[in-house]
Amino acid sequence: MKMKLSILIALLNFIALSCTKDVYTPPLYDCNTTVSYETDIQPIIEANCAGCHSTGFSAGDFSNFEGFKAKADQGLVNAQVFTEKKMPPTGPLPDQDLELLYCWLQDGALEN
Ligand code: HEC
Repeated sequence: MKMKLSILIALLNFIALSCTKDVYTPPLYDCNTTVSYETDIQPIIEANCAGCHSTGFSAGDFSNFEGFKAKADQGLVNAQVFTEKKMPPTGPLPDQDLELLYCWLQDGALEN
């Protein structure tokens, strides 16, 4: 009986641990080429975000670099696109776009 209890405890521990492991782990992007805001990021925003995040939009105006940069620096782009996967609301960006955005954020969200 003692034996069974310890097995049960081990099992519960394992379940608890696997639940905490359910946090977001970023995909393994290598990020070994520099991503340009102007040539890589802006077109992604234009195609996937600007329809809503336009001039004067209260949850972020991405019609200019500063607007997007502000949300990026607050960690909100990362949170919405990668961690919570709420943006864009229509579903996740294509993987190639995700990689570009991820690497651009990693590089410090530069106006390059
Ligand atoms: C269909 C309209 C729509 C599109 C397209 C869209 N968003 Fe949003 N976004 C919203 C709305 C509405 C909110 C506010 C949601 C809320 O407060 O819960 C928001 C909130 C956000 C926020 C949080 C801002 C804050 O201050 O908390 C970020 C960051 C964001 N969006 C990024 C993006 C990015 C990046 C894209 C494109 C890849 C995108 N969104 C595409 C409508 C949109």
